[in-house]
Amino acid sequence: MIRKKIAVFASGFGSNLQALIDYNTDGDLGGDIVLVFSNNTEAFALKRAKKHSIRAEAIDLSGFADRQEFETEILKILKEEEIDLVVLAGYMFLLTPLIIGEYKNRILNIHPALLPSFKGTHGIKDAFDYGTRVSGVTVHFVDAELDNGPIIIQAPVFISQDDTLEKFEEKIHKVEHKIYPQAVRLFCEDRLKINNRKVEILPE
Ligand code: GRF
Repeated sequence: MIRKKIAVFASGFGSNLQALIDYNTDGDLGGDIVLVFSNNTEAFALKRAKKHSIRAEAIDLSGFADRQEFETEILKILKEEEIDLVVLAGYMFLLTPLIIGEYKNRILNIHPALLPSFKGTHGIKDAFDYGTRVSGVTVHFVDAELDNGPIIIQAPVFISQDDTLEKFEEKIHKVEHKIYPQAVRLFCEDRLKINNRKVEILPE
């Protein structure tokens, strides 16, 4: 099987990026992270990439007339690197139809709640403040709507009475770091088949 070339998009800390890098050191994702892209030149994720000799690119949106122009520039880099899979890991922008169209069913995202509950940028805090007893993590394909595409893996995280928001956050991240590499690996092994919006996981 041909190894996939992966680009990770991250706007900030990049702990999920790190989990993916580590998974490929200890085991095998079935693909290689060849590019880390950020819209934030200060993102710690870029430092992580450099440390592991992965190409790190940051482009600031403010230099462009609109998102379309911005993404045209990103697309050039994706083509240059012959990227097969885009993995969003804390990327704080909604992608436009430009990249989504070009990478249809080849973009993954991780969301820190059990979709379709608690969509948006504050999934952890929103679930905690709501008083839900169980939330979790979702890895899904990306389509044009926010936190909406077909679901690949979900894992529950329970909120106990003495959890603080910080404790709960930690529990969520721990689960994220476990299931995101698994989902990426399934993609790289060509084991994900989308039927309408249901994702079938094919046997090895
Ligand atoms: C994660 O909680 C992820 O679910 C959300 O953004 C956060 C990114 O964290 N989409 P990190 O930058 O990977 O540490």
